[in-house]
Amino acid sequence: RYRKTVIAGNWKMNMTASETKKFAEEMKKVMPRAKWCDTLICVPACNLQAATRAFKDLRIAVGAENVYYEAKGAYTGEISAEMLKDLSIKYAIVGHSERREYFGETDEIVNKKALAALEAGITPIVCVGESLAQREMGVTNEWIALQVKAALAGVPAEKMRRVIVAYEPIWAIGTGKTATSEQAGEVCTLIRATIRSLYGARVARSVTIQYGGSMNPTNAQELLAQPDIDGGLIGGASLKPEQFVAIINAAN
Ligand code: G3H
Repeated sequence: RYRKTVIAGNWKMNMTASETKKFAEEMKKVMPRAKWCDTLICVPACNLQAATRAFKDLRIAVGAENVYYEAKGAYTGEISAEMLKDLSIKYAIVGHSERREYFGETDEIVNKKALAALEAGITPIVCVGESLAQREMGVTNEWIALQVKAALAGVPAEKMRRVIVAYEPIWAIGTGKTATSEQAGEVCTLIRATIRSLYGARVARSVTIQYGGSMNPTNAQELLAQPDIDGGLIGGASLKPEQFVAIINAAN
């Protein structure tokens, strides 16, 4: 095996600290004992500590949903990579399409966030994805290659081992409309080829590439069977213990 399989939940703006605790209790009853993939859940910043406490005996790491790129200072409301590191957080999503759409995150900002996370020893889960209009226009591959190159600008080869790329077609997020496993697999293969063109075959082989967008217990196995899909970034289904566990089991 060249790379890790990583099943990650993204709770978005869901779950209070108390609900997080309840989720963990439910999870304890159903979480498989054996470990064939890395598992984590990204939670709202205010619940990072509650989740860390609640998931401690669960083999579920805690990730952040966002991180700011400046080290410190007058950036009201923002959270630095150093702050996450100090809480022992090992993962942070950067450039989720919702942040790009609602909070004006550009490729340049996403790149700065990825660099800041890596600098602090945090694995950035870099999200890329095309809109429905782009897919219909036939520019998906060009767009994704551009997004990947922009997000990784200035990332040294030795740090690439710690980068996760998540392919999330925007039209498949929260819509119940999944990309077919062939569609998803094809773009993930293109993402690996783009990384290969930048860093060479050895690095490209080592990078975990996830699919995200209405992944659920029914479609997970087929998606994860694609040679270049090494995990999932799961929204809705990660809020339900049985569904999240079913996806973890599908990765086996
Ligand atoms: O980050 C997760 C994705 O946006 C997928 O969300 O599984 O609810 O479609 P979803």
